[in-house]
Amino acid sequence: MTRFRGTTAGAVFVIAAVACVASAQTIAPPSGATLAATCTGCHGPAGHSAGAIPSIHGRTEADLLQAMLDFKNDRRPATMMNRHAKGFSDEELATLAREIAANWR
Ligand code: HEC
Repeated sequence: MTRFRGTTAGAVFVIAAVACVASAQTIAPPSGATLAATCTGCHGPAGHSAGAIPSIHGRTEADLLQAMLDFKNDRRPATMMNRHAKGFSDEELATLAREIAANWR
């Protein structure tokens, strides 16, 4: 009986451990809104900049994606965006362009 309980406890432990590993591997990628929130510190709320940094609202998805890919691949001169764009995968830049074009008017 003791042996049976020990086996059950062991099985529960293994199942719990597997569940932990599984949940750690399935962290959802950040949403477009979450990614875009990181841009507002410089580009202003919804891309309406009040200062020297360009506003980025009201642009097309294709235009935004092209600009960010050009920054990322050093095809466009920049002071900050070249370094910033390198922190995102191409998929994340596409998500950002879609999000901003759709919602930042
Ligand atoms: C640290 C400040 C900073 C942050 C954060 C930042 N940017 Fe920029 N961004 C700039 C600056 C400065 C420029 C002008 C180019 C340069 O000198 O890097 C620029 C230019 C751009 C341009 C080109 C605008 C134009 O008129 O052609 C786009 C598009 C852009 N940023 C998108 C983004 C997106 C999307 C994010 C968020 C993922 C973001 N930026 C976050 C500072 C920032």
